[in-house]
Amino acid sequence: MPGTVLLGLQWGDEGKGKVIDYLLDKETFYACARFNGGPNAGHTVKVKERTYRFHQLPSGVLHDVQNVIGNGCVIDPAQLNNEYAELHNVGIEPFLAISERANVILPWHVLQDMYEGKLRRSTANLKETEKGSLVSSTTGRGIGPAYSDKASRFGIRIGDLLDREELKRKLALVGSIKEPYLKLLGRPADQEPESIERLTDGLYDFGQFWQDNILDTGSFLNDALKEGKRVLFEGAQSVHLDTDLGIYPYSTSSVCVASGASSGTGASPKYLNKIVGVVKAYTSRSGDGAFPTEIRGPEAEDLREMGQEYGTTTGKPRRVGYFDIPMVKTACEMNGVDWLALTRMDTLAQFAHRFDLTEIPLCVAYEFKGQRTTRFPTMNLLGAMKPIYEYPQGYDEYIYFIEHLVGVPIRLVGTGPERDDIEVRNPTERSNSSTVLDSET
Ligand code: IMP
Repeated sequence: MPGTVLLGLQWGDEGKGKVIDYLLDKETFYACARFNGGPNAGHTVKVKERTYRFHQLPSGVLHDVQNVIGNGCVIDPAQLNNEYAELHNVGIEPFLAISERANVILPWHVLQDMYEGKLRRSTANLKETEKGSLVSSTTGRGIGPAYSDKASRFGIRIGDLLDREELKRKLALVGSIKEPYLKLLGRPADQEPESIERLTDGLYDFGQFWQDNILDTGSFLNDALKEGKRVLFEGAQSVHLDTDLGIYPYSTSSVCVASGASSGTGASPKYLNKIVGVVKAYTSRSGDGAFPTEIRGPEAEDLREMGQEYGTTTGKPRRVGYFDIPMVKTACEMNGVDWLALTRMDTLAQFAHRFDLTEIPLCVAYEFKGQRTTRFPTMNLLGAMKPIYEYPQGYDEYIYFIEHLVGVPIRLVGTGPERDDIEVRNPTERSNSSTVLDSET
């Protein structure tokens, strides 16, 4: 079966870009298809002395594969063009298919993201550091508002950019609602409304530039899959940020779980047979909300610095914590993960060395109301989960514990920032050996 889905299993920023880069290099894929999110993603790939950061483009653009942006994505046209131009300037010109059904992020969405955030915080009378559950932060890229308009059937789609007159008519209609709404949200009175003419020109030019690449990505992928060509489906964000199954309302607005590979591209689910999960050797979190294994103080600062845990999209410092088995185990079960790639073991090793840790804390379960559980709960209960730690000795044992407690083999281990800093493991033998850890549920 030719469809492989790759997902992050924590809260994003697991190092998916590097694993995708590795897989596309070592295995023969025909296409790399992104199925969710917009320019809120941040895949970093380091090749020799150059670091590439993609927010909007699929990670496959550095490879000789067909790249697809599926209908489950939202697209910021200027951002897409900037990233593509950056590649073009260094002589890389990947083929890119863009779904005619993907929704467009409009300038109003970015403003809406900002003003709605401000208004929600001030209405709740809360400071930035004390946000409540209905005022969770965003990456400020207009993602939430673009998906809301999609769900309200009030969005502009990529296919709409091909007909200038129709596009202008639709934009005028959207603008007639957005402009007064933005005023209501507190946009200063002296700020110019969006020019429909200018917006139409810009979006129409985008449509003309990409017109041969704007496709029905479902048919494009299904034709390839039917012939047995392999496709890597790239999930942005991560399972626990999924709009339905993630830590709502601190989640993102798109489908981040494995089924999104199908609904977010139009590829038939019958072709998807391998699910790869990417996890970082510790945990990081870009947004708000409960975080049971969070590390604070100087240790957190050091780990953040060592792992360069700053948002690729926002630049904001990320919160950091110990590896959380219930989080990853639940994500594996929910998505049927076949094997794991464990990234950033080098950063964890550096951290352990700095603090003279011969034993590395690993959250193996939670205690909740006097009971032990390995189920990752909804956000309402997450703050009440007390982590139970065990202390594997050394890295081999650390990996072994994760593999056994999660119940999924670890096939790749990231050992450094470069493209080739990945070790391949053959976990089969060890995964089958029964230890006391197997009794954990
Ligand atoms: P939005 O999806 O950009 O509106 O952001 C909503 C929440 O999802 C925020 O807490 C973000 O920090 C988080 N988020 C969105 N994209 C990513 C990502 O790629 N990595 C980590 N967190 C993300």
